[in-house]
Amino acid sequence: MSSNKPSAKRRCLVTGVAGNVGSKLCQAMLDDGVSVVGVDNFFSGLQSNLAPFVAHPDFSFHERSIVEPGVVADLSEKHGNFDAVLHMAAVVSVPWSMEYPEETMAVNHAATLALHQEARDLGVPAFVFAGSAAEYGRPVDGPVREDQAGDPVSPYGWSKYLSSKHIEESGFGCALRFFNLYGPARGKPGPYDGVVRRFMAMVLNSQPLTIFGDGGQTRDFVYVYDAVKAVLLAGGLSGRKPLAGVFNVGTGLSTSVTELAELLADIAGQKLPITYLPERAGDLRHSLADTSKLESLGGFKPDMVLRAGLSITMDWFSENRADLV
Ligand code: UD1
Repeated sequence: MSSNKPSAKRRCLVTGVAGNVGSKLCQAMLDDGVSVVGVDNFFSGLQSNLAPFVAHPDFSFHERSIVEPGVVADLSEKHGNFDAVLHMAAVVSVPWSMEYPEETMAVNHAATLALHQEARDLGVPAFVFAGSAAEYGRPVDGPVREDQAGDPVSPYGWSKYLSSKHIEESGFGCALRFFNLYGPARGKPGPYDGVVRRFMAMVLNSQPLTIFGDGGQTRDFVYVYDAVKAVLLAGGLSGRKPLAGVFNVGTGLSTSVTELAELLADIAGQKLPITYLPERAGDLRHSLADTSKLESLGGFKPDMVLRAGLSITMDWFSENRADLV
């Protein structure tokens, strides 16, 4: 029997779909029966991230920049209304942002505000923006709450902070401040890789681990698939209503760089030599999320414990060594 009822299939727009978080988010939605329209300009995104789902019948890809005005309206005219806009596209390098502050603000701030406004004008029910722990500039003793952000140290931090603040004040959509993400990640290694990826490469290439400073600095390491889970939740794609406001995405657990090195040695089943290098300029001593807001308002708890997440990540990099060398 034919029916003229509109399809109940959900449809989302993902910007930065060829990035690490964007591609994992896209795969999770396709697996869940959601149609995805993805946008990326390959500034830092990778074709290889799209490869697993590029031919999926529910996936459509547009190579374009989010800086062009009218992206959401144009794509919703082509594909139909969106249930959510998940905005993961960004300039992701802090050092690049120092060299190119205006370009960083254009992409991470001005384009974010434009996309947010467009989504709102079109009546899209949910908007999720990928924020960052870099929005917390001042050192805080203990876990940082969302209302303690401000005074970031880099143009990158500023671009994310001003965008989250705008989204929060608008009352529409939400900003998720990701702490230190780790997990499987494609792409050639670069000088600005996070510590987990760098340590993985060092272990697998039998090189000593480099610790900057005394190793007592601490971070809140969040598994990338937990970040994906948070985006789905915030975007109203996991059965709850979309969230509004700004939320930390972390574990609330603090791990020092020395503890990280010890965990990796334990997982690798070998003693790992360490080279101590001078402290990195501008390095934060401690960074830890207060996770109570997302937990109480969204019922969110990360699934992965660090040891297990590192072990999976190590296995993944062992099987995908081309991504580390
Ligand atoms: C991360 C982000 C940065 C952001 C900041 C804000 C990455 C790569 N960087 O920086 O963009 O501004 O959060 O919260 O995600 N370390 C070593 N040895 C190494 C590499 C790093 O000891 O070989 C140390 C660093 O000195 C640092 C810690 O490990 O103390 C974490 O470093 P990293 O993963 O680069 O992230 P953040 O410094 O937290």
